[in-house]
Amino acid sequence: PPAGAASFDRPLRIPELAESIVRDGVRVFELEAGAGRTSFVPQGDTPTLGYDGAYLGPTLVAARGERVRVRVQNGLDVSTTVHWHGMHLPAAMDGGPHSPIPAGASWTPEWTIDQPAASLWYHPHLHGRTREQVDAGLAGMFLVTDDAEASLPLPRTYGVDDVPLIVQDRSFGADGGFAGGPGMQFDGALGDTILVNGTVTPHLAVSTERVRLRLLNGSSARMYDFVFADGREFSLIGTDGGLLAAPVRTTSVPLSPGERAEIVVELSPGEDAVLRSRAPDPALHAGAAAFDVLQLRAAASLAPSPELPETLVPLPAADDADAAAQRTFVMSGHSINERQMDLGRADFVTEVDTTEVWTVRNENPLPHSFHVHDTQFRVLTVDGGPPPRRLSGWKDTIALEWNREYRLLVTFEDYADPTTPYMYHCHLLWHEDQGMMGQFLVVEPGQ
Ligand code: C2O
Ligand code: CU
Repeated sequence: PPAGAASFDRPLRIPELAESIVRDGVRVFELEAGAGRTSFVPQGDTPTLGYDGAYLGPTLVAARGERVRVRVQNGLDVSTTVHWHGMHLPAAMDGGPHSPIPAGASWTPEWTIDQPAASLWYHPHLHGRTREQVDAGLAGMFLVTDDAEASLPLPRTYGVDDVPLIVQDRSFGADGGFAGGPGMQFDGALGDTILVNGTVTPHLAVSTERVRLRLLNGSSARMYDFVFADGREFSLIGTDGGLLAAPVRTTSVPLSPGERAEIVVELSPGEDAVLRSRAPDPALHAGAAAFDVLQLRAAASLAPSPELPETLVPLPAADDADAAAQRTFVMSGHSINERQMDLGRADFVTEVDTTEVWTVRNENPLPHSFHVHDTQFRVLTVDGGPPPRRLSGWKDTIALEWNREYRLLVTFEDYADPTTPYMYHCHLLWHEDQGMMGQFLVVEPGQ
């Protein structure tokens, strides 16, 4: 059936919460990447990859201030890496292309969570093979909690009124295998079927008046513009790196690959509400199609949820007065500043604990985005004007409309390492794999 005619007959799968133990003051997780088979479509099982299961991975949760250690076992027959997307952490723990885990080996990064409550995620980042491994199913959520978030009257019962939604597009072949691959289109493979947490166009039974949805665009190339089919308003409460200063009432939230949004939607007893993606703005598009995503099915009687507060968390003013450097990044073709990724070259060196202004432009008529490791940045201006409110908070990935100029306030704090770089890149995975990526070192002053 066409994607627009979804039946919503499958219940939404909720990724399990990852187990952890606290040993000597460190919260310890274990993850194992491995191969399996998953039933998505009637024509047959799909060979997939997952962490601790056949497809996707468990949700890790840790609190600000906690020391965490994750033992990652590679049960694949090829190398992989695990990158903690959106996490502030030392470069050697970041899981980029310089930290391959050979088949059968393990890797155990450890760091202290030191950033606001947010919906982060993890996925492989192997040089040139990220798309292949993410598309096969390697991805999961990493939720950071903190006292500021915990003191707000927000829905927070995992899987009940606080629900992660990993949205991906896939195509299936006649035998049920994933179809399409690199080179299928210049944007990377776009799928015709929407998976949410690895479930084809599912429904979610809702038992409370309000539900918080943590949306992650986990697709390789497709951009979405999330709306409700009936046009209802909802509240955007958070972006990539944390809560906004105040809820933003809106009817739509666009997300490019890698971006997240936390929204809260109100439901009436007994009603159904369909989350859709309408065809995105052609200036942002990768595949101009509309899709049903998820049907919320409200119970006949709903448990009360508290009203959303008028304000959420204080955000520092985005102020570029002390910027120590200005840099420009021009995205064009499969290059950034006419250079392609070179694992052996640092494209620039920056000093720890300084603030910079980065000007980013997409100069060709292809969809691109811009993602920076280790940090959460702020959008200063879009084409010289203030950013829309949905871009007013912490961001680590931003969709780039053609020929617009985005000025970002970027800071790298705490961690210096003169030998291990961090990455910046387009998060359309096919572009990233084609070399639309660069790397930088963060060093101590004078290093
Ligand atoms: Cu989500 Cu460098 O990636
Ligand atoms: Cu791109």
